[in-house]
Amino acid sequence: MDADRLREDFPILKAGKAIYFDSACTTLKPRQVLEAERAYYEQASGCAGRSAHALAKKTSEMFESSREKAAAFVNAAPEELVWVKNTTEALNLVIRSFDYSQRKKILTTRLEHHSLLLPIMEQQRRGIVKMELLKTNPDGSFDEQSIAATIDRSTALVAIHHTTNTTGMRAPLEKIIKIAHDNGAAVLIDGAQGVPHSGVDFRRLGADFLAFSGHKMLGPTGIGCLVGKSESLEKLDSFIVGGETVESVHIGKVQFMKAPKRFEGGIQNYAGAIGLAAACDYLSKIGMKNVEEHEKKLAKRMIEAVQSVPGAAIYGSPSSEKRSALVSFNLKGVKHHQVALMCDSLSKIALRSGVFCAQPAMESLGAPEGAVRASLYVYNTEKEISLFKETLEKIAKLGN
Ligand code: ALA
Repeated sequence: MDADRLREDFPILKAGKAIYFDSACTTLKPRQVLEAERAYYEQASGCAGRSAHALAKKTSEMFESSREKAAAFVNAAPEELVWVKNTTEALNLVIRSFDYSQRKKILTTRLEHHSLLLPIMEQQRRGIVKMELLKTNPDGSFDEQSIAATIDRSTALVAIHHTTNTTGMRAPLEKIIKIAHDNGAAVLIDGAQGVPHSGVDFRRLGADFLAFSGHKMLGPTGIGCLVGKSESLEKLDSFIVGGETVESVHIGKVQFMKAPKRFEGGIQNYAGAIGLAAACDYLSKIGMKNVEEHEKKLAKRMIEAVQSVPGAAIYGSPSSEKRSALVSFNLKGVKHHQVALMCDSLSKIALRSGVFCAQPAMESLGAPEGAVRASLYVYNTEKEISLFKETLEKIAKLGN
């Protein structure tokens, strides 16, 4: 793939506004996505599934064909895809609506984002579930020997990342899903940092639920997906109820629709869904294999660059093959926020610093106060990494 040519599609990059290394937070959007969102407002602008006029029909068509594209992107069927606001909403939906009447244990790890940990902690506070942790090591890898001993027949749900937002490393999902299913437990995957960066195949993965966000994969903010096997979605209790989630309503008696509609209460983010489908088209045209290859090259180059800077320490295993182009690190003697601010002011390099909404993860990785993070994507180049290295070398001199 030709990142230099792709950059022409991104107005922020074309205008030279930044060296954008904050794609784990949110990615930039290409003009094709912006145009698709605009097309909804210019060509349809109605409500889907309600009124019978032509603009409403056009909205329904655009909305449902977007569902087909987003589902196909992860090899799922359209009826397996629920539109949500973002990954956080999808994770809340599953964790808060799951049936814990027979089994109460939820397994997760310290490496998770707050959006996965907090709904579990809330369910535990209410006495609904018992939370336990799979063992992980300080370098962000899993203690794989202990997985089989931790997942047992009291486990209701294993809720776990595909790829972390702190190290870019992937979980050993194949093994975890197999052991969970052998024990009759369901599996929920936080795919926020996985679906954008590698070809995630829901069918082949075999998990029960997969959550991801549009804005981390070149799509708009405010739209995301919960993908679930139909039988697993049907077992969930209702979550947000309202217009269009029901077949009929009489006072005291409601008949809900089947999934996915049962979970899509109220007017939906049509423009967002249409924009996300355009992002899926854009990434499919590049090819997710090419995205992975590009990121692998960038990750290697970025790790070498950071490691060469005096006083730099990377979190997570630098040698891990299974990682996206994301590197978290600290520079000796300079605070992480200071590094990020100086990169911005010296070279217009956009980074994130802090604990990345994953405080327990950063504690377990040995950076309780936080770190600096560079997260790259399809539009980044090796030339940008060279400038980043030069900038870090200047900043490092302040701390040494
Ligand atoms: N979870 C996003 C990040 O890691 C917001 O930056």
